[in-house]
Amino acid sequence: MHIINCRHLTKIYAPDTHALNDVSLKINKGEYISITGKSGSGKSMLLNIIGLLEAPTDGELYVGETLVHNMKESQLTTIRNQEIGYIFQSFFLDGAYSVYKNVEMPLLIAGVKRRERKERVLECLHKVDLLDKIHTQAKNLSGGQQQRVSIARALVNTPNIILADEPCGNLDSQNTENIMKIFDTLHREGKTIILVTHSQEEADRAYRKIQMKDGKIITDETK
Ligand SMILES: Nc1ncnc2c1ncn2[C@@H]1O[C@H](COP(=O)(O)OP(=O)(O)O)[C@@H](O)[C@H]1O
Ligand SMILES: [Mg+2]
Repeated sequence: MHIINCRHLTKIYAPDTHALNDVSLKINKGEYISITGKSGSGKSMLLNIIGLLEAPTDGELYVGETLVHNMKESQLTTIRNQEIGYIFQSFFLDGAYSVYKNVEMPLLIAGVKRRERKERVLECLHKVDLLDKIHTQAKNLSGGQQQRVSIARALVNTPNIILADEPCGNLDSQNTENIMKIFDTLHREGKTIILVTHSQEEADRAYRKIQMKDGKIITDETK
């Protein structure tokens, strides 16, 4: 069984505008996949549909055995919160909140008890090497640090699937390397990772490389 199975996904905005054009893709648990392609080729749209942030116009998506189709919003919210960790180029942290509060947020939404929340936040901040910034307001961190906070937040509910949309797009090469090393570790730990990137160097670190063009997958190679 595949952890993600996309069947003939299509997303149309206007007549003749296919953001996605009949994309089928099966992903096994634990795969580390990169997606590259020119701007506008449909990378974010595919990631957002897999991440249940957008609905396709046509086609089917299975997450595990579950057909994500006509699912109630409350069920979608639970899958998003429990099964998927999201990492975006622009972090989406709450700048006024401490690092701790930002990482704790998904646990509050999931209704996890205070003591366990603390354990898990500390564990995830340790993973991204930010325990020393725990009380700092997010807005006072560097870009690289903010992205590591957002990774800790993505991991805190122990999701099986990590979706990252150009996570290093705003970072210098040292910070990019820090983030890519975290992905290497997550891959070794068995997470399923999909990384959208403009950088060939980053894409090459994945074990399966997908290239998109005009809303379609044009190459799909496994190392
Ligand atoms: N909300 C939207 N309304 C209209 N067109 C959109 C919208 N979102 C994306 N598109 C179009 O869908 C195509 C794919 O976009 P996207 O997935 O963001 O590309 P990428 O991430 O590869 O740069 C583009 O042609 C884009 O203009
Ligand atoms: Mg994009």
